[in-house]
Amino acid sequence: MNKYKLLTGMQDFLPEETKNWQYIENIFYDWINSYAYESIRTPILEATRLFVRSVGEETDVVGKEMYTFQDVSEEEVSLRPEGTVSTLRAVVEHSYLYSGPKKLWYYGPMFRRERPQKGRYRQFHQFGVEALGFSGPDIDAEIILMCFDLWKRLGLSNDVQLEINTLGNYEERQNYKQHLVKYLQKNKKLLDEDSLRRLNTNPLRILDTKNPELQEICNQAPRLIDFLGEESKSFYETLKMMLDALEIPFYENYRLVRGLDYYNHTVFEWTTKQLGSQGTVCAGGRYNGLIRELGGNDADGVGFAIGMERIILLMKTLGCLEFSNNIDFYVISQSEKCLIEAMKYATILRSHHYSVYTHFGGQKIGTQFKKANASGAKYAMVIGESELENNTITFKDLREEKGQETIKSEDMLCFLEKWMN
Ligand code: HAM
Repeated sequence: MNKYKLLTGMQDFLPEETKNWQYIENIFYDWINSYAYESIRTPILEATRLFVRSVGEETDVVGKEMYTFQDVSEEEVSLRPEGTVSTLRAVVEHSYLYSGPKKLWYYGPMFRRERPQKGRYRQFHQFGVEALGFSGPDIDAEIILMCFDLWKRLGLSNDVQLEINTLGNYEERQNYKQHLVKYLQKNKKLLDEDSLRRLNTNPLRILDTKNPELQEICNQAPRLIDFLGEESKSFYETLKMMLDALEIPFYENYRLVRGLDYYNHTVFEWTTKQLGSQGTVCAGGRYNGLIRELGGNDADGVGFAIGMERIILLMKTLGCLEFSNNIDFYVISQSEKCLIEAMKYATILRSHHYSVYTHFGGQKIGTQFKKANASGAKYAMVIGESELENNTITFKDLREEKGQETIKSEDMLCFLEKWMN
């Protein structure tokens, strides 16, 4: 029996799996560079109070799910549950918005001590984007457009839907909360335990409930949109007009509120029906005021984060992640001397951007060929005793289209240039 096991909710990714990650990461990097966003990296560990203040004490993320512990310096620290707040902390700490608005992205592990299930893990990875110092709604439209474009690049356009809503500004929300609480108090008998708890702490989140028995009460509840002033309404209307003009289909979900406290105005989620209850693959919104709350200037912000594990699950479900190995050459040698010679040739090939796998372990040539075939490599490079003696190299096409050729070693690169095209 194994002595050591993974912690609950954590995952190992073996090479069969990391291949999928790298494939998607490369698409992400091309995509984000094409929008000229710049990369920012922040630590995984931050002072707990940073998240408590900004994500919100009453949210599940901070209230129940953070990995928090006492550092020896006696400061309470937490593994970051998300990336927005750390990004803003760094931007404020380095006065980075001093020279104007910034478009930033990050990618890395986040930690939430949730009940694990398919698509929900305790360590998961987010690819996040934050546009800072822009008042929108044109930038809100751009970041939604970015997602729309990414789904096309990943082949997911037909399987994700956009839901949007507006949360208005703080005062509008406070006013609305009072009306909502009054309405929910009247229906208190029908609420479940979770909603009763939220009634005093975070009543808007009740609207987000997945409990089928509460759907009717929530559908009948007063709507935040009816409590918005002219400015907030016009912001939202302009965003919708831009999405229409950009031909991005969306669904208005008046009950979309999000689980983090810092949002106002635009909120949105991209969801899929393919993944069951954990179907939100990307989520975000606007957080005006958060930069100031963290000690910075009065700059606005808007962004989103994509859940990498969910994207991979979705792409696997849709069969978009089946690709073969990309090894160009499998190196086969007959003796230690032959192997050393072969390693020299392999180094030359690698410096010309070929991917080369060298066989070690000194097995029979036939066994090495079997392994070469199983590896998915395109060609075998063979150095046997006769090749060593005559200063030659034998190349064999493992898919048998081009057969086998023995060439002078000094002609290797010229030969391959022709042979492989
Ligand atoms: P969030 O909705 O908490 O937003 O997370 C964003 C995405 O991360 C989710 O839609 C989901 O795909 C993924 N995710 C969240 N929790 C888990 C989990 N336990 N396991 C697997 N995937 C998960 C934020 O974190 C905001 N910081 C997004 C943002 C950026 N808003 C503005 N800028």
